[in-house]
Amino acid sequence: MNEKEIGRFYYGKRVLITGGLGFLGSNLAHALVERGSHVTLLDSLLPQFGGNPFNVATIKDRVAIVVDDIRNESILKTLIPEHQFIFHIAGQASHVDSLADPLLDMDINCRGTLLILEAIRHGSPKSQFIYAGTRGQYGKPNKTPVSESDAMNPTDIYGIHKTTGENYLFLYSKLYGIQGISLRVNNTYGPRHQMKHGNYGILNWFIRLAMEGKPIPVFGDGNQLRDYNYVDDVTEAFLLAGMNTKSVAEPFNLGSGHPVTFLDLCKSVVRIVGQGKIDQVPWPKERATIETGDYIANFSKLRDTTGWEPKITLDDGLMRTVTFFEKYRDHYWSP
Ligand SMILES: NC(=O)c1ccc[n+]([C@@H]2O[C@H](COP(=O)([O-])OP(=O)(O)OC[C@H]3O[C@@H](n4cnc5c(N)ncnc54)[C@H](O)[C@@H]3O)[C@@H](O)[C@H]2O)c1
Repeated sequence: MNEKEIGRFYYGKRVLITGGLGFLGSNLAHALVERGSHVTLLDSLLPQFGGNPFNVATIKDRVAIVVDDIRNESILKTLIPEHQFIFHIAGQASHVDSLADPLLDMDINCRGTLLILEAIRHGSPKSQFIYAGTRGQYGKPNKTPVSESDAMNPTDIYGIHKTTGENYLFLYSKLYGIQGISLRVNNTYGPRHQMKHGNYGILNWFIRLAMEGKPIPVFGDGNQLRDYNYVDDVTEAFLLAGMNTKSVAEPFNLGSGHPVTFLDLCKSVVRIVGQGKIDQVPWPKERATIETGDYIANFSKLRDTTGWEPKITLDDGLMRTVTFFEKYRDHYWSP
């Protein structure tokens, strides 16, 4: 699929993005506006999450912004029938917070997803639904690289609830013919991520620490392998997923093809930021219990189905991210 085909496909399409003021949602919004889609962003701007109006400041006159909650059935009933594509990206995204407040995670990631599916079933059954799943659904993998058919062993409430949301989608596809697929999104970094805390999006948080000349804490030996995607590659995966009408009720992994140890990842941050240092410390108990060990994704299914491949190298992605936050720091550092 080339860029022209993506542009032609999305031109004039009506697209709803839940979580559209957050990291993944706002980057997708920019990509769709560039391609001439009519985009609506539904976001609750709950303070602990990554929703930030500045994320869409340069396109705010070309999108409709609805500040409301996916758990509000009446807003879903109004919005969903007006849209051909629903990218469901809103969510509670923190592994640690999901253990601190499991019922909030359930309410947003399970009940919120089910309410959206109900609104589609009753109000817009022909809409295409793309779900932001997560590599966290696999938890501690039995082997790497991890394929979609491998066992899921979530190590936290977040992984369980994201899996449940995905299962709701697959069931609704089978029972009611809803055209939906799930992208099991890899660890992602880049511009427009929240930089307020390190409860999720740890690579972005480490970039902030380095930019402030503060130590980056690496737990244990840091030799666990990680697989990171730059956000523009993830955005393209979402665009291609929306164009994929051949697959129904299917999961697709994202991956980088270039796994790196956590320690080397942090060394790259220090090198590219040009300051900061690494501080190796023992594993805190709450992190050790949810640690997944090595994670490498097999993304050949997505590549073979849509032609998607990650293009941005880690060094390039880190440089782009640092450049963005050097310029717009004031919009992201404050609480
Ligand atoms: N960023 C990653 O590395 C990554 C990896 C795997 C999966 N994901 C998934 O992608 C999704 C987005 O993650 P992100 O990194 O963009 O996080 P984010 O916090 O930047 O974005 C989530 C957005 O959803 C909004 N939101 C949360 N609850 C809501 C509700 N009840 N109603 C309406 N809006 C609500 C938030 O305000 C925020 O803007 C999440 O579902 C997450 O599970 C992200």
